[in-house]
Amino acid sequence: MTPSQFVSQCTASAMSDAAKLLHDGGLVAFPTETVYGLGADACNDQAVAKIYEVKGRPSDHPLIVHVSSMNHLGQWASEIPDFAIKLARDFWPGPMTLILKRSEFAKDFITGGQDTVGVRVPNHVVALALLEAAEQIGIKGIAAPSANRFGHVSPTSAAAVQAELGAFMNETDLVLDGGSCAVGVESTIIDCTGDIPRVLRPGAITDEMIVESTGLKIFRNDRFIDGGEGFVFVQPKEEIRVSGSLENHYSPDATVILDQQPTVGQGFIALASIATPEGVIRLAAPTTNEEFAQHLYTALREGDNQGLQQIVVVQPEGSGIAVAVRDRLSRAANGR
Ligand code: TXA
Ligand code: MG
Repeated sequence: MTPSQFVSQCTASAMSDAAKLLHDGGLVAFPTETVYGLGADACNDQAVAKIYEVKGRPSDHPLIVHVSSMNHLGQWASEIPDFAIKLARDFWPGPMTLILKRSEFAKDFITGGQDTVGVRVPNHVVALALLEAAEQIGIKGIAAPSANRFGHVSPTSAAAVQAELGAFMNETDLVLDGGSCAVGVESTIIDCTGDIPRVLRPGAITDEMIVESTGLKIFRNDRFIDGGEGFVFVQPKEEIRVSGSLENHYSPDATVILDQQPTVGQGFIALASIATPEGVIRLAAPTTNEEFAQHLYTALREGDNQGLQQIVVVQPEGSGIAVAVRDRLSRAANGR
């Protein structure tokens, strides 16, 4: 139980040291624009096994492979439909993961034995510098789940990574400090193995943006979304394993209660326009839905740090990133 090293000077030499560590089978936690990831060389089964140990995550849950640009997509995926290329062009680097038929590079220890692979180009200078340094020494991609213990809230700062995983990482492992994450909730996951995009996890790349980019109708929550004309229910496709889609993910230790009047001693998260009742502990007062997403996980963590038993959250309404915020909140409210 030794804490890992903490690197805040993300210089070129720090990046090449971190890349070497990945090459040697070590773990590097790094910032992305969504949340911090816990990275390993995606072709090294033993290094990837350490991710599962540190997270305490079941080993059949697939991992996202991070690459520095869409030029590397063809290495990991064997079939790339035109609409996936359109999405990659429009939104990478960015908060979007594409699920595609895998190539021979994507082994079972990455895909959880499924015949698909998740790929993402993150939009963060430190993540991209790390990926480029790693690719220069022959690493083909960095496998990285969110850098939290399984089922817990994703970290959006290096300090939160340290608090979550410091006790489980090796002393030679690294945490790169790239400040707080701009988006604050995990990437939109889009299954591109069918005829049209299917959103498996909502995020900052919204339904509207996907429809606009691809010109196609999309599936989400097994509903058919056609950019405004309403929903048509369809049969769910065969089950795909997305651990972030478990009903009780993204949970703090405190009980999360949605859309109720908070009482004395409870934590409270709501838009700034909603006042704090007397005796209630305000954890965040974002002014926009984007800020809501950005501060949500820090606020839930803060509630835990203060030892609060309950946190009441007034959910943001409407479309856009509010959909992702409500998705995470409903799972957090389901408990651990
Ligand atoms: O924003 C993000 O996506 C962050 C940053 C670090 O990139 N990563 C992240 O990873 O959230 P993770 O492992 O915590 O969540 C990724 C989700 C998991 O629920 C996993 O099951 C799903 O993506 N996933 C990965 N590969 C998949 C595949 N081939 N098919 C279906 N789901 C997949
Ligand atoms: Mg996660």
